Amino acid sequence: MSEIKSIGVFTSGGDAPGMNAAIRAVVRSSIYHKRRVFGIYRGYEGMIRDQIEELDARSVNNIIHKGGTILKSGRGESFKDPEARKKAFENLKAKGVDGLVPIGGDGTLAGAKTFTDQFALPLICIPGTIDNDLHGTDYTIGYDTATNTAVQAIDKIRDTALSHNRLFFIEVMGRDCGAIAINSGIAGGAIVTLVPETQTTTDEIIETIETASKNQKTSSLVVVAEAGNSGRTVEIANAVKQKLSKYETKVTIIGHLQRGGNPTYFDRVLASKLGVAAVEGLINGMSGAMVGIRNNKVAYTALGEVIGQKPQPDEYALRIAKILAI
Ligand code: F6P
Repeated sequence: MSEIKSIGVFTSGGDAPGMNAAIRAVVRSSIYHKRRVFGIYRGYEGMIRDQIEELDARSVNNIIHKGGTILKSGRGESFKDPEARKKAFENLKAKGVDGLVPIGGDGTLAGAKTFTDQFALPLICIPGTIDNDLHGTDYTIGYDTATNTAVQAIDKIRDTALSHNRLFFIEVMGRDCGAIAINSGIAGGAIVTLVPETQTTTDEIIETIETASKNQKTSSLVVVAEAGNSGRTVEIANAVKQKLSKYETKVTIIGHLQRGGNPTYFDRVLASKLGVAAVEGLINGMSGAMVGIRNNKVAYTALGEVIGQKPQPDEYALRIAKILAI
């Protein structure tokens, strides 16, 4: 096995606050370990189009606190074509890049696995997605920030909801995983939280609201995960309104606000740890894995084990949310 001399880093899929801190950590730890480091722009797209530039320690000045990604991102559709992947590999080879650090969610990891299987190019992925839906890490980069953003929004809606005695439905992000919804729901004191992993009927929602109302509960905030169908909350709210017309019902979709903003201290530190661990893993001869954090320790999991694992609902969180909503 030859020693890694040049590392390429890129961000792909939905951006997440803390990706910049991860890029910074990859760049600086590579240079600390006397490796060259290249930034690849727009994820897999930039690899195919040869948008690859050498970075130095100063290229990542003043980005640790910034949301978004200085390397830009993309959904990487064209990477599904084997010919495009070949072109991408040749572009990397021409620059001398012999190790990769992809930063992103499940789609990014799937692309990385296909790539390393095809060309045996060593790579260690970093989990960067607000969804917190990856097996092999307790937290993904961006999830903490996004959830805090959701909680701040819910707190603000509570103020206005209370002033008018209205029923509010608040939609948060989360495609297959209800982590943002359930935890912002608990932290924001929601009466009902709807997550993609479990089904809740209109009648169940109404029953909870009615019981709470009989118990003199004065606020009714329902948090809904968008479940890959942004806007679905309007339909849910309408269905409830038809059967429960005594409340004035309002819908707020927080949407992409959750993807931006300054990363929390937690996401910055997580990104810094995982960035260094990805580079050191590569240098130590590891490949085909994702680096994550489990029980507060850095842990590497084979990509084959991470990809395609359906997120499990947090049953305990769902249970306590119900108990505390009475
Ligand atoms: O995966 C992150 C995420 O924000 C999901 O929560 C959401 O379903 C999706 O991306 C939205 O994607 P886009 O920004 O492409 O609309």
